[in-house]
Amino acid sequence: MPQPPSDQRPSDRCAVLAGLGTCLPERTVTNDDLAERLDTSHEWIHGRTGIASRRIAAEGTSTGDLATAAAGNALASAGRTSCDLVVVATTTPDRACPATAPAVARALGLSGAAAFDLAAVCSGFVYALSTASAMIAAGTCRSALVIGADLYSTITDPDDRGTAIIFGDGAGAVFLESGSRTDPGAVLHHDLGSDGDGRDLITVAPGERYLSMRGREVYVQAVPGMTDSALRVLKGAGWDAEDVDAFVGHQANIRILASVAKRLGLPEERVITNIEEVGNTAAASIPLALAHGVREGRVTRGDRLLLTAFGGGLTWGSTALTWSGAQPVHSVRG
Ligand code: COA
Repeated sequence: MPQPPSDQRPSDRCAVLAGLGTCLPERTVTNDDLAERLDTSHEWIHGRTGIASRRIAAEGTSTGDLATAAAGNALASAGRTSCDLVVVATTTPDRACPATAPAVARALGLSGAAAFDLAAVCSGFVYALSTASAMIAAGTCRSALVIGADLYSTITDPDDRGTAIIFGDGAGAVFLESGSRTDPGAVLHHDLGSDGDGRDLITVAPGERYLSMRGREVYVQAVPGMTDSALRVLKGAGWDAEDVDAFVGHQANIRILASVAKRLGLPEERVITNIEEVGNTAAASIPLALAHGVREGRVTRGDRLLLTAFGGGLTWGSTALTWSGAQPVHSVRG
């Protein structure tokens, strides 16, 4: 029997990341700006979190707007114009009903594509990447846009110094297509998990408008939670920690990233971070950091990447993939 092409064999077929797009709001809010109205300082915020500024969307800009721009940029980065599936990972959908993804698909000229939202808070991008990759590997679809987009400014109390200093707005997206596990860009292995006992640590409580966070308790769980997830995905991928060329973790706190890297035995120069400029952008965090790493020349074709996220739920997740060499496309919005 003649063999089907290698990318058609179920055991070998996997998602390959072929495009990367990002979008950030134009307005920058510095720590000094926040210190004008809150009892805080640049020194405290920068020293405790690594954040110097964040981007905040203009009134009237929606999660869908940022998601559409980032996804359009991911399509351009991949040099593609069509796609079978659109997944938007977000905690701040445009409406409670319907999902944001069908409107994003329509705005991109992709009406007819399967489209749904996914809610896993700051782990949302990794959850969505895993879901879409599994659908490609199963043959359910041949291509997918995986978008992480959040407007935390809409759910953050501007008078709460415990949260207003942390979060920023933004969106990042990747374009996936069917390929083989040996292709550069192959999405190789995933680890996902949750612990609902921690559901009150980061929450918009029923009837409340704003997010509340027990930051210290989240911090204490994030470090072992991310480390253990990273170790599980490395084991599944058959990699040792020293095989990892770049660690792209959820940008929640620079000290969390440094502690996880230390526990994994990864040198500092392999930790990709852009938290200083954008803060914690929730589901957008990992694709934005990835694009930053590529632009800085610290992520190059063939590199082995470890993505690890942690967030509300509690949820966590990791992905092992190689880098295709895709060049990120970026845009700015009001
Ligand atoms: N400016 C100045 N002081 C502040 C402050 C601010 N913005 N926020 C809190 N403080 C004060 C507290 O009131 C407290 O004062 P006290 O000692 O007099 O009571 C002191 O600083 C220490 O507060 P604490 O909350 O223990 O600080 P921390 O070192 O844990 O840092 C976070 C706070 C939020 C930066 C940190 O806990 C964190 O990053 N946690 C993880 C959050 C996270 O990752 N969330 C998203 C997950 S997706």
